[in-house]
Amino acid sequence: MGIDEVIRQDLGRLYDIPLYKCFVAGWPQVEAFQARHDDLLIATYPKSGTTWLSEILDAIYHDGDLEKCRRDAIYNRVPFLELTVPGMLSGVEQLEKTPSPRLVKTHLPVHLLPASFQEKKCKVIYMARNAKDVVVSFYYFHQMAKIHPDPGTLSEFLQAFMDGKASIPTPAVPQDPRREVQKILQFLGKEVAEETVARILHYTSFQEMKKNPTANYETMPTELMDHSLSPFMRKGVSGDWTNHFTVAQNERFDQHYQQQMAGSDLCFQMEA
Ligand code: A3P
Repeated sequence: MGIDEVIRQDLGRLYDIPLYKCFVAGWPQVEAFQARHDDLLIATYPKSGTTWLSEILDAIYHDGDLEKCRRDAIYNRVPFLELTVPGMLSGVEQLEKTPSPRLVKTHLPVHLLPASFQEKKCKVIYMARNAKDVVVSFYYFHQMAKIHPDPGTLSEFLQAFMDGKASIPTPAVPQDPRREVQKILQFLGKEVAEETVARILHYTSFQEMKKNPTANYETMPTELMDHSLSPFMRKGVSGDWTNHFTVAQNERFDQHYQQQMAGSDLCFQMEA
């Protein structure tokens, strides 16, 4: 796909204007990215629990050795494939320096993924979250992550989101983290002692991640993320949208969601 087409069709919808301009600059590098056969791709829509899943996987990859998990900030341990911000190593450059087996974070939709992931038959874990909670989380993230534009009021942001101007979401952060971790272990073909699972679950609980500087993004420069406006580890709950949506907004969102997701297996009921 040519760069112009990418800009017009997808990156513009996927990322806000300032962000996608940066990403477009790095796009040729992303498109040519060489995946390795043992890469594991963590694919999500923004604010769906990417950091949580990344921390769980890094802990599994290190057999629950938490000292090793604390070796660096999460954004260096699990590089963000398409990230290209001036003055920082790009995701691709970071990944090239990362020893195998690598964990790779992306928010790209499947048709924009570098072809090498498919050629190398890499494993992918896709995580989805209730789209209403995504909107609320993304709204606060726009306030604190300076690369995003000012989101305006929640009502304005909600409209932009439904118009496809923020990005396009999908639907439930795990209600039962233990079950999800077991599913991941099965998918990876890994056996881990029950006490290790318990350790990983504790380490990756919201309360622990919130105070862990290698997980909570507080090591990011304030020019990029200002946690005083809204912390990255904000609430970590399902159903916060009920504290933000009016009845009318909820009805509009449900209607829009049903239209967008008609015919898709991913069309979840979005209960609080
Ligand atoms: P909230 O803003 O609703 O609190 P991402 O990593 O994809 O950007 O997602 C961020 C969201 O995941 C934030 O949601 C954050 O609080 C939540 N989160 C991060 N770690 C979590 C954990 N261990 N348990 C529950 N939620 C977590």
